[in-house]
Amino acid sequence: MIKKAVLPVAGFGTRFLPASKAIPKEMLPIIDKPLVQYAVEEAINNGINEIIFITSPEKYSIKKHFKKNKELELKLNKSGKMGLAGKLNPEKFNKVKFYYINQEQQNGLGHAILHAERIIGKNPFAILLPDDLFISTKSCLEQLIEVYSKEKSSVIAVNEIDDENIHKYGVISPGNNISGSIEIDDIIEKPSSEEAPSNLAVCGRYILNYSIFKHLKSTEFDKSGEIQLTDAIRSLLKEEKAFAKIYDGEKFDCGSKDGFVHATIALALRDESISENIKKIIKDLV
Ligand code: G1P
Repeated sequence: MIKKAVLPVAGFGTRFLPASKAIPKEMLPIIDKPLVQYAVEEAINNGINEIIFITSPEKYSIKKHFKKNKELELKLNKSGKMGLAGKLNPEKFNKVKFYYINQEQQNGLGHAILHAERIIGKNPFAILLPDDLFISTKSCLEQLIEVYSKEKSSVIAVNEIDDENIHKYGVISPGNNISGSIEIDDIIEKPSSEEAPSNLAVCGRYILNYSIFKHLKSTEFDKSGEIQLTDAIRSLLKEEKAFAKIYDGEKFDCGSKDGFVHATIALALRDESISENIKKIIKDLV
């Protein structure tokens, strides 16, 4: 039902300089997989078969990463390393069409999403912000798809955030709670803890109806000079319902250094090939 997903990856990644000078931040690995691939796999595992990257020409390596490398696959197969070929060119990527649209100016998340309008057409679509890495039995996107199937309205993943950090997120004003999902009364981008209407912050997964594009087009630049997706959703709420789903699982904010390291440790502890060693290393260090 949801077949298309947008992944905004054009940001400069300044928090990760100098690592992000020549390598896109999204290509930095958590263990042995680039951060962006976790979001791409989450999308594909949930039936998405068109992935639209909103990117920049400098980030060519993202395109290279999702393109089949037949030459190396052949070499690996010849030398008996068939297992590695599956990592190099995952089978599940074969059925997916990847698009790369350049965002010339960095004018915010809303501005980035607007670039996908032509390819999305009149379809509902997912947005995955690759900085947010989710680990759960049922993926975050799957949890949203379940709500979308029932409500046929836009749905956004939220999680509880403490007062101290709420100013970093979009925050919803919750309305009625309807069997596992919450009707959104209002939404505000990066409020102070005093202004925040709740402790439910938007995390990086959305399913939106295409009507969002109409609202994005009439959304004005905010005081930081950006077109905010949150402001467009706020405008959409005046015309149609939208829902929030409290995400059930773990979330790592890999847009920050501590979140990135946290995700690396958490995934290392779950990787059978290294976990025992990592446990020993941590024990020795602490
Ligand atoms: C963006 C959104 C914000 C959301 C956040 C989730 O902010 O604008 O509403 O809560 O992603 O990660 P950014 O992190 O790009 O500043």
